[in-house]
Amino acid sequence: MRDSNRAIHIQNLTKHYGEIQALNDVSFEVKRGDFFAFLGPNGAGKTTTINALTGLSNFQTGQVKVFGYNVMTEYVQSRRLVGLCAQEFNFDPFLTIHELLVYQAGYFGILPKEASKRADDLLARFQLTDKHNVKHRSLSGGMKKKLLLCRALIHEPEILILDEPTAGCDLELKYLIWDYLLQLNKEGKTIFLTTHYMEEAEKLCKTIGIINHGRIVRIGEKRDVLRDKSLEAVFLEVTGSE
Ligand SMILES: Nc1ncnc2c1ncn2[C@@H]1O[C@H](COP(=O)(O)OP(=O)(O)OP(=O)(O)O)[C@@H](O)[C@H]1O
Ligand SMILES: [Mg+2]
Repeated sequence: MRDSNRAIHIQNLTKHYGEIQALNDVSFEVKRGDFFAFLGPNGAGKTTTINALTGLSNFQTGQVKVFGYNVMTEYVQSRRLVGLCAQEFNFDPFLTIHELLVYQAGYFGILPKEASKRADDLLARFQLTDKHNVKHRSLSGGMKKKLLLCRALIHEPEILILDEPTAGCDLELKYLIWDYLLQLNKEGKTIFLTTHYMEEAEKLCKTIGIINHGRIVRIGEKRDVLRDKSLEAVFLEVTGSE
């Protein structure tokens, strides 16, 4: 890794969709080993930021780096350091869930035998072993969330980026995911998640970033951000949008 202490570094990022300015001069960084919550109401620009970070969409101005690798000009180096758990389900409909994980590992150069073992381990970790031979259509919504996580983790990335990982999950699954994320963070992985749940940010994170209308409103240590009375209006908007 070129910049081993700075997992994510975003500078002056601006993104327009036609007339809509989704991101307006966004700059922040996430340190290696951090557990970072990105909070903001619907339409604030969270997913757009993640898309820029993972090379899924282009942007007009600015620079985005993952451990020092530019996501545009050094896409391969930056992308292999990131595991992405997207907001929406986007699975290949023709593959079984085990095949789907092995294929995903293949994009990162992991050979089928090793990929198959990793897939078995992850499916067991998320209690999906009995489903390994079915296609994703036969999974419940919560099971699909777990599959998104397995797919994000299959190449053992340094950074895990999760776009609302527990939205729509029941309590049991939410706690399973929380425990696992805390364990991964303890093991040294950097975690970046978006959420509308204040409780999730409070329980899990070390650092909170708040975005509203495409602009960063505040970034700081959790206790400082949560104590900041001037942010109450944004917090209300975030939690009120569930
Ligand atoms: N593909 C697109 N085409 C046009 N506009 C888009 C597109 N994707 C996002 N937008 C717009 O960009 C803005 C930011 O959207 P984004 O998806 O980043 O919000 P978000 O913070 O992830 O919201 P949510 O909490 O609802 O997931 C919104 O105004 C949205 O309508
Ligand atoms: Mg979103």
